[in-house]
Amino acid sequence: MSATIRPARRQRGARISGLGAYRPSRVVPNSEIVERIDSSDEWIRTRSGIESRRWAADDETVVSMSLAAAGKALAHAGVRPDQVGCVIVSTVTHMYQTPSAAAEIAHALGTDHAAAFDISAACAGFCYGLSLGSDMVQAGTAEHVLVIGVERLSDLTDSTDRSTAFLFADGAGAAVVGPAELDEAGIGPVAWGSDGENLDHIRQREDWRDVLASAEPRMPHLVMQGNAVFRWASYAMPTVAQEALAAAGITVDDLDAFVPHQANMRITDAMARQLGLPDTVAIARDIAEQGNSSAASIPLAIERLLETGEVRSGDLALVIGFGAGLVYAAQVIRIP
Ligand SMILES: CC(C)(COP(=O)(O)OP(=O)(O)OC[C@H]1O[C@@H](n2cnc3c(N)ncnc32)[C@H](O)[C@@H]1OP(=O)(O)O)[C@@H](O)C(=O)NCCC(=O)NCCS
Repeated sequence: MSATIRPARRQRGARISGLGAYRPSRVVPNSEIVERIDSSDEWIRTRSGIESRRWAADDETVVSMSLAAAGKALAHAGVRPDQVGCVIVSTVTHMYQTPSAAAEIAHALGTDHAAAFDISAACAGFCYGLSLGSDMVQAGTAEHVLVIGVERLSDLTDSTDRSTAFLFADGAGAAVVGPAELDEAGIGPVAWGSDGENLDHIRQREDWRDVLASAEPRMPHLVMQGNAVFRWASYAMPTVAQEALAAAGITVDDLDAFVPHQANMRITDAMARQLGLPDTVAIARDIAEQGNSSAASIPLAIERLLETGEVRSGDLALVIGFGAGLVYAAQVIRIP
């Protein structure tokens, strides 16, 4: 027999060792949105829970916002850029198909030629990235993985579309995933999947070739069947969240926090009800002042819970991302 290949897997766990986030400076209240979509502050608040959202200025790019969030996450983790073995960036709003935002970010941060790639998993992107990073660390593929969720959804939002103009927002969040003893693992097994049958529930309106072929080329905006997404998220996602709890070997009674993708406050409330969360569980409600920032929303929401003191380092949180694809992913994590 020829020589055997040593397997990659090592007996170790993974944890989030540092978190960082970046909120764009521009605060956009509902009053700035309502006229163009014949809406009202009251309608937006009651239907979505959003009071204001953050939109990026011209110089707050996908890369610059990522660098700001990543710098904070690395400092929090006490990890130097040259110790990062891989950079994963989840985004649907980096305007280059290639090269990746991740390669630019890995270089700008000063990593030592870290592996780098982007993923497209919309609002589930942070949890997808966390799962990949966790597997890499457990397998020994990388010692530290930088996972970034970043969006400039304002670029792809039609300001006259009643179902999306008030919803989407911009921002960045980052996590450093590093090794942990097996009995101190800080990232549980992922419960994830996709439902491509419902591609049309949220999507880019047309592809770039159709855009360029049109008489008046314009950004291919995101379009959404709000009601269908709402029903899917409210009824199907609690089951996925339960799977993540079961995979981690815990129940809602062990949880300190619930941090769903900040899609709509009513979806968060519906999920919390269906999961039967005890009153002691802190529920992320960052959407009120941040809007829906897709791949960035979960780390941004965790940052706010830490800032307000609603969660502390060492707490157990259930995170779940879901969105265009349709795609979804959930894990139990320990707050760093
Ligand atoms: C977008 C969303 C807030 C719309 O709420 P909704 O209750 O489903 O609203 P509907 O589209 O059924 O419309 C209800 C009524 O409000 C009106 N309406 C729709 N958009 C409006 C707006 N922006 N302002 C004021 N009225 C509006 C409709 O015309 C309709 O009026 P009618 O009852 O007189 O016909 C909601 O569907 C949603 O949040 N969906 C999920 C979105 C999401 O999370 N997406 C991201 C996932 S990653």
